[in-house]
Amino acid sequence: MLEIKNLVVQIEDNRILNGLDLTVSTGEVAAIMGPNGSGKSTLSYVIAGKSDYEVLDGEILLDGQNLLEMEPDARAAAGIFLAFQYPLEIPGVGTMTFLKAALNAQRKARSEPELTTPELMKRVNEAGARLEINRDFLKRALNVGFSGGEKKRMEILQMALLEPRFCILDETDSGLDIDALRIVSDGVNALRSAGRGFLVITHYQRLLNHIVPDTVHVMSAGRIVKSGGKELALELEANGYADYRRAPAEAA
Ligand SMILES: Nc1ncnc2c1ncn2[C@@H]1O[C@H](COP(=O)(O)OP(=O)(O)O)[C@@H](O)[C@H]1O
Ligand SMILES: [Mg+2]
Repeated sequence: MLEIKNLVVQIEDNRILNGLDLTVSTGEVAAIMGPNGSGKSTLSYVIAGKSDYEVLDGEILLDGQNLLEMEPDARAAAGIFLAFQYPLEIPGVGTMTFLKAALNAQRKARSEPELTTPELMKRVNEAGARLEINRDFLKRALNVGFSGGEKKRMEILQMALLEPRFCILDETDSGLDIDALRIVSDGVNALRSAGRGFLVITHYQRLLNHIVPDTVHVMSAGRIVKSGGKELALELEANGYADYRRAPAEAA
C-alpha cells in the first residue's frame, strides 16, 4: 500500500504540492487526472526520489517504509518504478547493457543471484515480443533515435522485467498512436496483480478506456480535490477541469 499524507513540496521557492493526501491499496489501479501544471509529474518524481525537490512536510509510505528517508536506488529496490513522461536518451549505453545492469542491481539489493545472460535474453525476448518491440532496438543505445511510442514501449519493457511492487506511469499515453496505445495498455494490464499497485497519471480519459482504473483522483493546484470510481474520468471528459480549478481557493 502507498500512503501519502499532507505532502508539501517546493522547487526554487515555488510551492508545487500543497498538502496532498492519497492512498493506493496493494492491487489497486489508481488514476490521477488533472490540468497541465497541477503537479502530477512533480508527485511522480518526489515518490521516485528525484533530487531538486524540497519536501517541506508530509510522508510517503510504501507498505509502512518511509520512502522520503531512502535514496532513489533504495526506493527502486523496495519496488518503486516510474515510467517517465519524457524517457531519457542515453547515448553510448546499449539497451541490453542497461537492462542487464538495472535488473541485476535490483536483484543484488534484494539478495537474489544475478541473472545469467541467456536467462536475461529469454526474459527480454518474451516481454519484448509481447510489447511488439523490434529486436534491433535492443542492440541500439537506450532510447537514442527511438520514436515517442518506441520509448514508451521500452519503459513498459523495463517495468515488466523489474516486476515492481508499485508502478507509476506518467502520461504514458502521450505521443502514442492508437495501436501503440493498445500495445502499451495490454502490457500494463498483463502486469496487474493482487500484489502490485499502480498510479496511472493522465491528462486525458482515453488511456483509461484501456487501463480501467479502480479509483480516479482529480488533482488541482498541488492537491487531490476529488476522488471517485472510474465514472469520474468520464465526467471529467464531458465537463473538463473547469469545476475543479477553483477548488483549492474555495477550500482555503
Ligand atoms: N524545475 C522546475 N522549476 C520551477 N518550476 C517547476 C519545475 N518543475 C515544475 N515546475 C512547475 O511546477 C508546476 C507543476 O508542474 P508538473 O508537476 O510538471 O505538472 P503536470 O505534470 O501536472 O503538468 C508547474 O507550474 C511547473 O511550471
Ligand atoms: Mg506532467
